[in-house]
Amino acid sequence: MRNFTNVHDLGDLQQALKEAFEIKKDKFRFTELGKNKTLLMIFFNSSLRTRLSTQKAAMNLGMNTMVLDVNQGAWKLESERGVVMDGDKPEHLLEAIPVMGCYCDVIGVRSFAQFESKEDDYSEKILNQFIRYSGRPVFSMEAATRHPLQSFADLITIEEYKKTERPKVVLTWAPHPKALPQAVPNSFAEWMNATDYDFVITHPEGYELAPEFAGNARVEYDQKKAFEGADFIYAKNWAAYTDPNYGQVVSKDRSWTVDTEKMALTNQAYFMHCLPVRRNMIVTDDVIESPQSIVIPEAANREISAQTVLKKILESL
Ligand code: CP
Repeated sequence: MRNFTNVHDLGDLQQALKEAFEIKKDKFRFTELGKNKTLLMIFFNSSLRTRLSTQKAAMNLGMNTMVLDVNQGAWKLESERGVVMDGDKPEHLLEAIPVMGCYCDVIGVRSFAQFESKEDDYSEKILNQFIRYSGRPVFSMEAATRHPLQSFADLITIEEYKKTERPKVVLTWAPHPKALPQAVPNSFAEWMNATDYDFVITHPEGYELAPEFAGNARVEYDQKKAFEGADFIYAKNWAAYTDPNYGQVVSKDRSWTVDTEKMALTNQAYFMHCLPVRRNMIVTDDVIESPQSIVIPEAANREISAQTVLKKILESL
């Protein structure tokens, strides 16, 4: 595997899961694989889990790591070709990307949707420029439309906790004060649709995901009905995708907050969220602190998903 931007890049998903569980059993089995290889992690946006888990995963494989926070200490980067660069951006991505590629063997990129142009966001303009111009394998550390390292960790977690072969997994929209990208729910839907789980998406009207991500999932507009018999509740906020409201908050309906009353409708479901989470907006204190909350093991599995992906990339060098 050279690049990793979505579930299909992994190839056989069951085989990838098998590799992930082998790595989890012995994280230091492949410490020679990354010897004298350098990972460069480029962040256009903030991070806690992705930064730490990916760095740890690379170190487990014996790699050297470098981190560049583009908005803190680096030159501001222009991304549009043809622009007269007389503003506040002294460097163009078209030079910066191949230069970054000179100093490393693998590149991880975090670049969120900017909500200025749906076309730019959904064509993954920034991530694809890294793939095209860096000369290095590139993996997504959350791009405009997907967060595959998160979704892989989510899948590993569900496989660890599921009590039936075909669990009911519910992705629920929940309120948030700000407009958030669709990357996590898009990606989660893409990965769930690649399994044979019973997968349901619930959200208020106006928050429909792009059809290529919602796929064949059942969409249920009644959140309580969706929760009935669920084995996993995966909460996340996202801004509207559909025009003319792309990138906007069209509802902050607090009745969608995940609480104990709604969790009682489920089959003693586990509660999941990618974190960071706004308590008592997305989920109540009681639910996130309950024994059914698996947000910490879910975050811990970010190290495993990153290490599995990096191992596969290193094997292709
Ligand atoms: N879930 C996740 O990607 O967390 P960070 O934004 O902190 O990296």
